[in-house]
Amino acid sequence: MELFQNHNSSGIRGCPEGTLDDVLRVHRALPGYAPTPLLSLDGIAGSLGVKSLLLKDEGMRFGLKAFKALGASYAVYRVLREKSGGRLEPEEFIGTKGRELADGLTLSCATDGNHGRAVAWIARLLEIPSVIYVPRGTVPARIAAIQSEGARVVVIDGDYDEAVRHAADEAKNKRVVIADTGYSGYTTIPWYIQQGYLTIFSEISCQLKKAGEKSPDVVFIQAGVGAFASAAAMFFNDPSDGVRLVCVEPRAADCLFRSAKAGDGIPRTVSYGKNTIMAGLNCGTPSLTAWPAVYKRFDLFVSMEDHWAKEAMRHLAAAGVVSGESGAAGLASLIALSRKKPGFLSKGLHLPDDARALIISTEADTDPDSYRRIVEVPCS
Ligand SMILES: Cc1ncc(COP(=O)(O)O)c(C=O)c1O
Repeated sequence: MELFQNHNSSGIRGCPEGTLDDVLRVHRALPGYAPTPLLSLDGIAGSLGVKSLLLKDEGMRFGLKAFKALGASYAVYRVLREKSGGRLEPEEFIGTKGRELADGLTLSCATDGNHGRAVAWIARLLEIPSVIYVPRGTVPARIAAIQSEGARVVVIDGDYDEAVRHAADEAKNKRVVIADTGYSGYTTIPWYIQQGYLTIFSEISCQLKKAGEKSPDVVFIQAGVGAFASAAAMFFNDPSDGVRLVCVEPRAADCLFRSAKAGDGIPRTVSYGKNTIMAGLNCGTPSLTAWPAVYKRFDLFVSMEDHWAKEAMRHLAAAGVVSGESGAAGLASLIALSRKKPGFLSKGLHLPDDARALIISTEADTDPDSYRRIVEVPCS
């Protein structure tokens, strides 16, 4: 495990006025919407150097096994709203008016699994086709999950970044590309996707308020291109509130870590020619629209080996939480820190003695065979 501490982390602008209300209205109107559970894992907190540990279980979101539909749905809503000249209410999105506006469109994106399933799900609700590009080596279970939403899946002979380029080319074929990563000349839709993820943090905040509990002292966010991390940065935009943010990546695809460590604010691409079991985080290039907020606001960047994720999955399984390889990454980094850098949270990150940590299980068993093989091994 490697760490990079950002001693110059600072506040950033929050999301534009009214955005969160808009996002929440869109999500509440979607079929199957319900806040996902916020669980207490205090039983294992002590051994990890914190007083309490909260887990938000996104494996339950919309029955899709991952959080990604929050971003894709909001982005597609905004596309249709624009098409309607601003006259599509959130409650009309998945209904006659939304379907009429969507008629004739085809949605497309690149994915390592979860985002593609989310885009295909929205396309199915709108009764329009979708074409989803996946990198070479995507496991059959993830491809089947995307196909189960009615999408055509195209396997690209290349990595995730190459799949993104293929999907981008498709815009020329009159497809609407719903990419979760921003790149030169393509920033609006990724920006909406980032805003869509705000629902997770808003729900957490309500759940804590209802329980009479205060905000967490530290939040661990797993990152692929950093869109989800940027939503955390937007929500916890003011560091004087006392919330530290930790960005967690697999060693084999630690583009945000390397970019932060370079220290000049310029995002870097990494390409080690290796894979990680954390497929959702297997991205080599930070999103252009997410990176500035993550670089400024995050306090710590962690690059870690895959075995920590396996261990975290076993602990979560023992606690009754089904969490996949990328889903368990937040807990994995906490375990790695407690073993390799004991005392770092209090001395390095200056967390209080009664620190409350928050992790988000961003996916359930999206590769069921791999999940079973990993959690069969007893916890160490
Ligand atoms: C399960 C899971 N967790 C986390 C992430 C990371 O999100 P982002 O790419 O926005 O950093 C992904 C991305 O696909 C994912 O599938």
